[in-house]
This record gives sequence, structure tokens and C-alpha cells, in this order.
Amino acid sequence: MMSKPVILTGLRANNDLTIGNYLGAILPMVDMAKKRAGEYRVNMFVPDLHSFTTPIDHGQLYDQVINNIKVYIAAGLPIDHDDVYVYRQSYVPAHSELTWILDCFTGMGEMSRMTQFKDKSAKLSEDRISLGLFNYPVLMAADILLYDASYVPVGDDQTQHLEFTRDIGERMNKQFGELFTIPLPVPKQHEFFGKDQGLRIRDLVDPTKKMSKSDETGRGVIFLSDSPEVATKKIMGAATDSFGEVAFDSKERPGVTNLLTILALLSGKPQHEVNAEWEGKTSYGDFKKGVAEVVASFLTDFQARLAAVDEQPVLSKLEQSEVAMRALSEKTLLRTQQAVGLRPKS
Ligand code: TYM
Repeated sequence: MMSKPVILTGLRANNDLTIGNYLGAILPMVDMAKKRAGEYRVNMFVPDLHSFTTPIDHGQLYDQVINNIKVYIAAGLPIDHDDVYVYRQSYVPAHSELTWILDCFTGMGEMSRMTQFKDKSAKLSEDRISLGLFNYPVLMAADILLYDASYVPVGDDQTQHLEFTRDIGERMNKQFGELFTIPLPVPKQHEFFGKDQGLRIRDLVDPTKKMSKSDETGRGVIFLSDSPEVATKKIMGAATDSFGEVAFDSKERPGVTNLLTILALLSGKPQHEVNAEWEGKTSYGDFKKGVAEVVASFLTDFQARLAAVDEQPVLSKLEQSEVAMRALSEKTLLRTQQAVGLRPKS
């Protein structure tokens, strides 16, 4: 096992990334990498095999994978650091191999109870619900367990999958001895990333839903590739409420609260400070303008940094990391293969 504790996360490349992805996973990861790489190993990968658990345009997938990596860098991931690894899941075969083994210790019932599976499969006819969608959490568990990752920054929608990772890891350890490092319980993860709960950025048009990159209309979604003008229009059109006064209250006022959350995270200020600035104000128009300005300037800045990311160093970093990750993951895989009787015990 590695001596440095591991922080690990991944974002699928099934569509353009959103500010929900950015704030929920990229920002906490990059913050940690900037402040603590050296103390920790940082694994930031693209789960490309997860990208087509629901139908996508395969003609675009490869470019989107590379674009995601560039997004990580534009967001500030220090790829020159020796403790920072960026890699593609499909370039490290142990992910698929460990998944099969874990599959055989996972119940149909527990997979059927996964909220994400239930939500996504509800929109598809039975024959279009892929086995990959059903199996998604097992591959995710393999992604995490292969590298002995303790910390996994994800948005609130992935909490259940993280809990499953702990369950399947503990189940294997119980049956076969200490095979895997178990990621920390979810509340401890929040503590580590300095939060009191998992983040859920909501759709601007329907704030009862989470902002999702696979949303059909995209009207309530701010993509990292949206022009500042388009993003401004989306914010100005965001659903609010009829209270007529800005207040932070996610139950009663999810729309306004969502905007306050985005504002605090993008401006890097504590939530209570941003709330104090705006609570009690009665013009939602002015409030939205304030939010739109911060979002537009974030996007302008971010897109300029993205355009400036050079492809060649990215590709060489990927290759280096993938060699290292293949070696590392093979060790965990071999340990598991030995435990289940596929390889002789050394
Ligand atoms: P994906 O691509 O669906 O989402 C990537 C990350 O973005 C977070 N996220 C959000 N956070 C806050 N508000 C939102 N509206 C919002 N929408 C998305 C997600 O929670 C996620 O952290 N299954 C993972 C990908 C994955 C993975 C892993 C992550 C595969 N293997 C291993 C960590 C470790 C996912 O949801 O991807």
C-alpha cells in the first residue's frame, strides 16, 4: 500500500461539464491539490468507460476526454507536481478486471436500489437500460479501491455510490482479509474538504432538480463552455420564488438559495458573508445581476485559461501517469486475484 493518503476523483466525459461539476468536484479537488500535494497523492482521472452508460455521440467521446483533462488544468490542477496523476480509466485495464470480480460479490437488489440508476432508467425503455448503467457503481468502486483512496470529493448525487464503495470494500475485506483501504465515511469526507454537507447545485429553471450535464434542454444549466452572454441570460431567467426578499433557505427558497451558493463558491467568500450582503434585499433583478456578473467573469477567465492549455504536455503527462497507475493498480488487482483463487498465493 502507498504511504501517502490518496485523494481521488473523476468526471465523466459524456457532455460538456457544468458549473455543478466544477463546484462539486473540480474545485475541492484542485484546492486540495494546490494546498496539500506533497502530503497526499492526488489522482484526477476521466472515467471514460462510465461515459456511455447512457447513449452518447461516440464520434465526440475521445475529444471530450482530452478536453476534460484540459479543464482540470485550466481549473488549476498542478500537473507538474510529482504527486499529481491524471489518467484515463480505459488506459488502465485493472479497472475493468477488478469490476468483474466485484460484480460477483454484488447483489442485484443493492444495485436496483441506487437512486441514480432508478432515475436514469426511468427515462429509458427496458431494452435501452444498459447493463453498464446498472453496473456503474461497481466500476466506480473499482476506480476508488484500486488506488487505496481515502478521500473522494464528489457532489451530493454520488454519496450513495461512495457508500456502496465502502460496503463492497468492507465485504471483501471481511471475507478475504485486508485487501482494500476503505474510503472515509461520507461525513468525514465533508469535514476533510471543509464542508458541512455534500454540494448539490440545482437546475436554474427547475431548482427542485440538480443541475445536470445530460439535461435535454440545457436551459437551466450553465456549461463551462457557455459564453458569458448566454450564461447571463440563463441566470437572469432563473426561477426564484414569490417571497420577494432574498434569503438563504434551501427548502422554501431553493432557487434563490442556489444562486447564493453559486455566488459564494465562485467568489471564494464564506457563505454567511455573501448571505449577509444580500439577505433582505427586495430586488431579485439586482440580485441576479450581481450573480450573473460573477458567473460571467468566472467564465471569461476560465475559458481564456482553457484556450491557453497546450496539448502536448497534457498528452505526455497522461502517458506518464498511466504507466504509473497501471503498475500501482496491478498490485491491488493481483492481491485480489490471489485472494479469490485466480492466482497462486505468493
Ligand atoms: P459525473 O460526471 O456525473 O459528475 C462528476 C462530478 O460532478 C458532481 N456533480 C455535481 N456536484 C454538485 N452539483 C451538481 N449539480 C452536480 N452535478 C454533478 C458529481 O457528484 C461528481 O462528483 N460517478 C461519477 C464519476 C466517477 C467517479 C469515480 C467519481 C466514476 N468513478 C470514482 C469519483 C471516484 C460521476 O458522477 O460523474
